Amino acid sequence: MTKYVFSQLILNWYHINGRKNLPWQKNKTLYTVWISEVMLQQTTVNAVIPYFKKFMSRFPNIKNLSKSSLDDILYLWSGLGYYARAINIYKSAKIIKNKYNNKFPEQFSEVIKLPGIGKTTAGAILSLSLNFFFPILDGNIKRIIRRYYGIETLLSNAETEKKLWKIIQSITPIHHTNKFNQGMMDIGSLLCKPISPKCDICPLNRFCIAFKKKNWRQYTIHKKKNNNNKKKSWFVIIKNDHYIWLERNIKNNIWKNLFCFPNFEKKNKAIQWLKENNIKQTHKRIESFFHEFSHFKLHIQGLIIELSFKKNIFYNNQGIWYNIKKPQHIGLSHPIQKIINNMKI
Ligand code: ADE
Ligand code: SF4
Repeated sequence: MTKYVFSQLILNWYHINGRKNLPWQKNKTLYTVWISEVMLQQTTVNAVIPYFKKFMSRFPNIKNLSKSSLDDILYLWSGLGYYARAINIYKSAKIIKNKYNNKFPEQFSEVIKLPGIGKTTAGAILSLSLNFFFPILDGNIKRIIRRYYGIETLLSNAETEKKLWKIIQSITPIHHTNKFNQGMMDIGSLLCKPISPKCDICPLNRFCIAFKKKNWRQYTIHKKKNNNNKKKSWFVIIKNDHYIWLERNIKNNIWKNLFCFPNFEKKNKAIQWLKENNIKQTHKRIESFFHEFSHFKLHIQGLIIELSFKKNIFYNNQGIWYNIKKPQHIGLSHPIQKIINNMKI
């Protein structure tokens, strides 16, 4: 089996079955491919589509983006998760403006310096938009290569990683790198899935070791979904008519820079905070619910306090009275958005 045959199998498959009409595959530019590739890190194609469309209509080019505030970007990112990506886009846009005169760089060595862009994202951006020759190796592609070549050593092993890069480097074709890379990503997500891969229709099945041995299961990391850890949060929802009090989350966690209700691990801390701020204690409760993260579950409970005026609550100058009827453009996490939506009814 030569490298020529491998890439030819992928290209032939891509020609007929590959995805070619996703929103970011039309009128491709470095900019559109950059934004879509960052959105597609850790997020499925279907979840990304509406966010990508909204993003492009709000920021049709880098110039628009680099003029924007972080809150503007987080506003469009609200609900997509992994918000550090949006912060990195914001930082990158400023660098692109100051260092590259609002033109996304075309050199790999420059692209990879941008915050949030690693070897695979840099390679994907340059190969998919300009058809430059760069191999890529995301989680899906690693799975294909390991199964195909029967590489059963642990993925966490640095040697395995090196070996996989060496292989992908050698089998990526110099011509049609864009189609090859897209084809590999498509096969990874549509056929060579972690569970129940569709080997019977896979173009690689003739020479695939995992298929021959019927042991494709062997290669799937059974990451026990370890989100049995539970954490609690008490949200204090202070309302006045159609306004609610929100504060920028300045803690260095997954929701950094998004706006949240004042929140506390324990109810008595919430009550104490209300006292310190001279806010009346009578409250209703929201129906509690869980928000699931990959590594823990957050049990969310909330107290609703209706005030008769918009009290001046001090919070680092980073708190706002959020207007439900005419929302300010800020980032909101999924659970906050959910509570606010429920309050509209
Ligand atoms: N995941 C990451 N990049 C992708 C792309 N261009 N198409 C489909 N899935 C992807
Ligand atoms: Fe994956 Fe099956 Fe194709 Fe092998 S034959 S690459 S295991 S889908």
